[in-house]
Amino acid sequence: ADLSLGLYPDFMAKEIEQQPDVAERLITTWSGSILHGLWPSFSLPVPRHVTVVGCGTSLNAGRVVADLLARLGSIPFAAVEASELTSTATVPGSLALVLSQSGETADVLTALDVLHGRGHAVVALTNNPHSALARRAEAVMMCHAGPEIGVAATKTFVAQVLGGTCVVLSLLGCSGAVEQQRAQRLVRDLDRVPDALAQAIGASRRTIPQVLEGLTKASGYVFLGRGPGRIYADEGALKLKELTYRWAESHAAGELKHGPLALVEHGTPVIVVDDGSARMHATIAEVSARGAEITSIGGHGTSVPALGSPLAVALDTTVDWLGPLASVVALQIIARELAVALGRDVDKPRNLAKSVTVE
Ligand code: G6P
Repeated sequence: ADLSLGLYPDFMAKEIEQQPDVAERLITTWSGSILHGLWPSFSLPVPRHVTVVGCGTSLNAGRVVADLLARLGSIPFAAVEASELTSTATVPGSLALVLSQSGETADVLTALDVLHGRGHAVVALTNNPHSALARRAEAVMMCHAGPEIGVAATKTFVAQVLGGTCVVLSLLGCSGAVEQQRAQRLVRDLDRVPDALAQAIGASRRTIPQVLEGLTKASGYVFLGRGPGRIYADEGALKLKELTYRWAESHAAGELKHGPLALVEHGTPVIVVDDGSARMHATIAEVSARGAEITSIGGHGTSVPALGSPLAVALDTTVDWLGPLASVVALQIIARELAVALGRDVDKPRNLAKSVTVE
């Protein structure tokens, strides 16, 4: 693996740019076996419920994957922070999907013991085949993202989402829950993901510098999303906090009016993972009327251009069943650019470690 910075200013910049290639490698590696053997190779029964476990960005990736399984296959799930598992009841017989980039996070390994103690079978999604998690899980899905040096996870999030998506499509296709032709179509759709990520990098590079100045002046940020977009909004807020040391909140768009709207005043940055729906449009109109600075990230035809001035990062959303995966690229770039503008060390944020091996 190439561990040099090359011409990049920092590893995070390099790892963001690598995402289309990471996606391409992962999809090429697995797509041939999705409908012929990936899920069967795990030798596990088709689950009636899934428990997603992880920390930080890995937990968000797990929520995306489980949400996809619930939407395409009607298999319900619960997502639990690894550190909370001991004190959280789990559904008996639930399949545990445990995600960890490093596979060595102490909270995750403790959770693994608890899961095994309760009789749950564990599918691990990790970037490290030699990790304790990979060795101890019943089945392992590798992310193939290559080494990630930046403390804040970027390319491994995309790799976990896509690796998990391969498992989901395999489970549904091989078990007959999704009929063969449809499953084949979904697998073929994955080929378009690398281009969509590359397009998102280009669109973000062009548009984000225009909002940067407004963003640096704020002391706090609100992120909004709906449905699967909600998880991406959470991930965007997490990246911004990690890198800039500023406060960020993430909410389901419809919940804003039930409390957090009180935070919004003239100039408050509101970053929206925009699904283009009428309900999202209504929320944007509401914060916009209070003078919020809106940055919309979504497909062509999102709500924001209709409102006039605010900035939109237009994304290619051709693989719509997958949810707004490409939005994460824009969210990562917003967090990084802002951190760089504020003089932060984006590869080594204060107080944080790449792999936390204490509980
Ligand atoms: C640390 C890192 C986070 C990461 C989390 C989980 O806190 O700073 O970026 O998401 O650990 O790491 P893992 O290796 O388990 O995915």
